[in-house]
Amino acid sequence: MTSPETITIRRPDDWHVHLRDGALLAGVAPHTARQFARAIVMPNLSPPMMDSAGVAAYRARIMAALPDDTSFTPLMTLYLTDHTDPDEVARGHADAVFVAAKLYPAHATTGSAHGVTDIARIMPVLARMEAIGMPLLIHGEVTDAHVDIFDREAVFIARTLEPLVKALPGLRVVFEHVTTAEAVQFVESAGPNVAATITPQHLHINRNAMLVGGIRPHAYCLPVAKREHHRLALRKAATSGSAQFFLGTDSAPHARHLKEAACGCAGIFNAPYALESYLAVFEEEGALDRFEGFASEHGPRFYRLPLNEGTVTLERAPVTVPEEIDVGGTVIVPFHAGETLGWRLRS
Ligand code: DOR
Ligand code: ZN
Repeated sequence: MTSPETITIRRPDDWHVHLRDGALLAGVAPHTARQFARAIVMPNLSPPMMDSAGVAAYRARIMAALPDDTSFTPLMTLYLTDHTDPDEVARGHADAVFVAAKLYPAHATTGSAHGVTDIARIMPVLARMEAIGMPLLIHGEVTDAHVDIFDREAVFIARTLEPLVKALPGLRVVFEHVTTAEAVQFVESAGPNVAATITPQHLHINRNAMLVGGIRPHAYCLPVAKREHHRLALRKAATSGSAQFFLGTDSAPHARHLKEAACGCAGIFNAPYALESYLAVFEEEGALDRFEGFASEHGPRFYRLPLNEGTVTLERAPVTVPEEIDVGGTVIVPFHAGETLGWRLRS
């Protein structure tokens, strides 16, 4: 088979991104808007976006951070707490303030201190979401101190996710940024109401990238990268053509000095070269023909949104990712810093 020099796909979307706020937002958002038509925007700001008014105001700040003629559409999410009101959720969804709600187990990750302490507390909210067909987005890790951090996703599946989808089989669930073979297997066996996003970093790196030859904070995100066999299971799922898996970068920028610290922040800034990064994986897996489904079709179908009009083209050309990027005055080290990728998004 000859390898193509260009690849053109329907405009893609990012189904999981952190755009931040304030000065960082203005620097970060254009990177996502350059690559994607739409993005599901995470609500884990400080304080989190836990009511309709807050979400609507945040959406306005995102639009203000982009040029007036931008074609980018942020798709907003509500942050669930122990005290979320089902009526507020239904109203905000009906009014198109947000398209989905995000479940962070309390203290699982950055900005999750106000998250849900016990899923039993929000069952009325989840039952309402099931009734109205509103997607629930889940950070799937338990937080118990005695569960090993490399096991937290698998334990969450057994302890929380399996019982949840059994109790509410009509609830539409996106298991975000899956990192394990167990998660892939769970999603595949769960049926069409359950889907998962997969990040570029979990397709490219295993935990060695973080720990071999020195501790590498720029490879640290949550959930953490796992063993190699998990990475291989994720690559297989992403490139399988299954409509249950789609693109979600989890691009999560933190200032360089906040990652290169005694207690470094979790999160990898992959937005600037996200499509190039994913495409490298699809090419290595001999699955270029399945890239469009993963990047541009499976996500909107799951969210019941129209496919985007228009296309983007990537061309075969070496692109060296900068060692650092100035994002609105903050220096951030991007994913693949210093590496050369084989594809370039045509502007
Ligand atoms: O690595 C991560 N960073 N994982 C998350 O779940 C949150 C994110 C962030 O907001 O920085
Ligand atoms: Zn995230």
